[in-house]
Amino acid sequence: MASLSAIAIALALLLPVLLLRRHFSKTTSAHASAAPQSRGDDEKPKTIMQPPREDLAPPKDDPYTLEQLKAFDGSDPSKPIYVSIKGTVFDVTHKKDVYGPGKSYHIFAGKDGSRGLGMSSLNAEDAVPDYSALPENEMKVLDDWHSFFSKRYNIVGKVVDLPEAVAPKL
Ligand code: HEM
Repeated sequence: MASLSAIAIALALLLPVLLLRRHFSKTTSAHASAAPQSRGDDEKPKTIMQPPREDLAPPKDDPYTLEQLKAFDGSDPSKPIYVSIKGTVFDVTHKKDVYGPGKSYHIFAGKDGSRGLGMSSLNAEDAVPDYSALPENEMKVLDDWHSFFSKRYNIVGKVVDLPEAVAPKL
């Protein structure tokens, strides 16, 4: 009897966690693979993510500090919007509708929010550069995002003052 209720309690605790994980891994795999989503027999397949671009400029190597990056969060419409992932700075200005102030992914604008990207988290406290403690599966998610951005946004520079745990080794 006691063991039955123990199983029931364990299931009750575990189920929401499993459901959440499934939700997020589904979300990120749709995100990361940019898989076409079919919406019915009579409709063409629809891609929810923007396709890769063929017209990217050669990557630039301009140095940015994390403090300097803050100016590129979209709050000044005369400036471009930058998102940094693992220290690579991407110009996401043409997706103002996603990264601009008040938009869904503004949390990643004007900063390096690698940890949050790896965790599939939109919480402000997770959008920080130090991703060193991520488990292997979240490291993979983060790398998939880096590759996703590399195929869609121009690289305009690199962050030169990443926390020591994730700074490139010289
Ligand atoms: C149920 C939850 C979610 C849904 C339905 C969803 C849906 C979408 C959709 C439809 C897009 C394409 C948007 C566009 O190109 O205009 C997108 C892009 C994106 N999502 Fe999500 N999302 C979810 C959760 C998350 C979470 C938790 C994160 C946190 C990392 C995230 C990060 C991103 C990023 C970085 C993009 C790329 C935007 C780009 O540069 O093209 N999403 N999402």
